[in-house]
Amino acid sequence: MGSRIGGLMFQPVKIAPSILSADFMNLENDIRMIEEGGAAYVHVDVMDGHFVPNLTIGVPHVKQLKRITKLPLDVHLMIANPLEQLPWFLQAGADILTVHAETLEGQWLDRAIQLIHDAGALACVALKPNTPVDVLSTVIDKLDMVLVMSVEPGFSGQSYIEGSEQKVAQVAAMAREVGNEALLIEVDGGIGEKTVERVCAAGADVIVCGNAVFAADDPKQAIHDITVIGNASH
Ligand code: DX5
Ligand code: ZN
Repeated sequence: MGSRIGGLMFQPVKIAPSILSADFMNLENDIRMIEEGGAAYVHVDVMDGHFVPNLTIGVPHVKQLKRITKLPLDVHLMIANPLEQLPWFLQAGADILTVHAETLEGQWLDRAIQLIHDAGALACVALKPNTPVDVLSTVIDKLDMVLVMSVEPGFSGQSYIEGSEQKVAQVAAMAREVGNEALLIEVDGGIGEKTVERVCAAGADVIVCGNAVFAADDPKQAIHDITVIGNASH
C-alpha cells in the first residue's frame, strides 16, 4: 500500500450493492448472492419521505440484516433528523453510518461524527449533487468516508449525472490537503460498467450499485465485472 497520484492511499475498489434494488420478498437469498459475488458491504438506503420523497426501510430492518450477514452494513441515512435517529441505527448494527451534509449544519455535523465514532462505527458524510465540497472543509480530517451522490437521492435506477466524477476528484484533493490519506470516497447513483471507470479514475474507492447488480442477468458476474473495470482505472 502506498500513496498514488490520482487519489488517496491505494485500496482495491469495493462494491456495495444497494438492497433498494433487491427482492425484498427474498432478501436473504439476495444477500447470500452478493456475499458469494464478492460484495464488500451491504448498502442500506434509509429514506423518510421528507428529506427525499421516497420512504424505505428503518431500524428494525437493519437489526435483522445484522443477524443474517457478516458483511459490514453501510447505512445511508436520507432522513431529515439524523441526530435523533442515528443512535438507534448504530445500536441496530450499522458499521458505516452516513449522514447528509444538507441535514446538519455547523456543530451538529461534528456532533453526528462524534456520536458515530463513540459507537465504534465509521463516519461518512454524503453530498447531494448540488452541494459543494466546501461544506466538508471543517470535518474532512475526522471522516472515514465521503459519499458523493451522482444522482438526486431518492430512487434507484436513475442515470448518472455527467461530471459527478469531478466532485470525487475535489474530495480527494481536499482530503490530501489535510493529510487524511485513509479517507474512502464512495459514489452512489447510476454506477455500472459504463460509469465505474471514470469515478474510480477520479479517486472513488467504494461503488454503490443498485440496478447494475440486482437487475443484471447475472448479479455475481456484474459485481465481478464492475470490480475489474474499477480496479483497472483506480
Ligand atoms: C439513491 C440511493 C442509491 C440507489 C442506487 O437515493 O442512495 O443507493 O439505490 O441505485 P442505482 O445504482 O440503481 O442508481
Ligand atoms: Zn445510497
